[in-house]
Amino acid sequence: MAERETWTSRIGFIFAAVGSAVGLGNIWSFPFQTAANGGAAFLVVYLLAVFLIGFPTMMVEFVIGRRGESNPVAAFEKLGYGNWSFTGGLGVFSSLVTLSFYSVVGGWVLSYIAGSVTGGYFGDAGAYFGSVASGPVAIGAHLVFMAITIGIVASGVTDGIERATKVMIPAILVLLVGLAAWATTLEGATAGYEYYLSPDFGVIASNFGSIVPPAMGQAFFTLSLGFSVMIAYSSYLGRDDSLPADGGAIVVVNTLVALLAGFVVFPILFATGGAEGAGGGAGTAFIALAGAFGNLPAGGVIGFVFFAVLLFAALSSSISLLEVPVSYVTENYGVGRRTTALAMGAAIAVIGLPATFGTTWLDFYNDVVFNLLLPISVFLLAIFVGWVADREAIDELGRGSSIGSSFTTAWLWWVRIVVPTVVLMTLWLGLETLYEGLTTGGYF
Ligand code: PHE
Repeated sequence: MAERETWTSRIGFIFAAVGSAVGLGNIWSFPFQTAANGGAAFLVVYLLAVFLIGFPTMMVEFVIGRRGESNPVAAFEKLGYGNWSFTGGLGVFSSLVTLSFYSVVGGWVLSYIAGSVTGGYFGDAGAYFGSVASGPVAIGAHLVFMAITIGIVASGVTDGIERATKVMIPAILVLLVGLAAWATTLEGATAGYEYYLSPDFGVIASNFGSIVPPAMGQAFFTLSLGFSVMIAYSSYLGRDDSLPADGGAIVVVNTLVALLAGFVVFPILFATGGAEGAGGGAGTAFIALAGAFGNLPAGGVIGFVFFAVLLFAALSSSISLLEVPVSYVTENYGVGRRTTALAMGAAIAVIGLPATFGTTWLDFYNDVVFNLLLPISVFLLAIFVGWVADREAIDELGRGSSIGSSFTTAWLWWVRIVVPTVVLMTLWLGLETLYEGLTTGGYF
């Protein structure tokens, strides 16, 4: 069997992992989730979720991945706990489902790049969304997006994923900073910043139950946790890299990109009317932003740059989602990478088709992943590393790093008690959302 690939450098791994983390979640959902959930109040809860729960959970996946040195299912066997491999399998399944609808939204982004050139959305942003979000255009764009994703993953870990993300991540950062700088010149920008940045703690207190699940879900999703992605990516990592340092860098850059996106989106929205109506679900974000671009001088150019950033972000994430099932099938069944990427990609494209029928399907897929699969998976991972895995596996955290054993012990207890408790609470609240959507006919 061919030797397993590894990242060519530590920075290559960081780029790829940041690429996975930075995605539609940061630039598209984050600002709009913030808008839907009370502005700065949501931001505070989200940041706490990212650093207090997300970061330790990322270490959980890194420990399993690097120590297991194989795909997310086989990793558990290599660690000596084969009967836990269903946990990795759950991540593989979640990656499949997520990519299937993520790619549909990726297709929308392609249509909006085209619309920035043709001016398609300038007149009536709502009508444009209607024409590209479902039906034949949506199907075509979804397939194109999947094809690009397949192409990159088929080229391999270093030649495909590492190389692509090394170009896309710097481009995203530079363009976003440029857009944020430009946004400061807009009239109304100040009102946007204010809405974004001054938390109303009364809002947090009175809406705790409705803010925490989306903030937690968003924190896991944006860090690509609970999908076995970080298990797969860290399995290609050298033994002498510091997991906490790499993870810290990934979390910080990912958070910066989300925050930056807010500095682009809110001034633009407030320059053309405000954030009302921007919060309600998948499509409103596209309609609100495109509408704003249509009303701004040189809006087509700005729109083009914005949607190009969004496309890079979406692609650098979608390749990580495809890598998970591909690494599993190539390693466990010995099928070639190209064939697997193509076959898996095609299957995923088909699974995603219902999401091109209308946004309610997309919301349903999204809610199942956010409210059900994700928290269950993170809960199992925390229990596994916290209570089941042996000390040797736990000590993987400190290998190649200068952290002391007291850091490892503190982390272990955090993962044993705090992470599972918070996640269970989130799961409970999230199930309510799902149940309501199903029983009140919210989805179908
Ligand atoms: N983190 C990506 C985003 O924020 C999405 C993603 C989730 C990618 C899970 C891979 C795995 O858009």
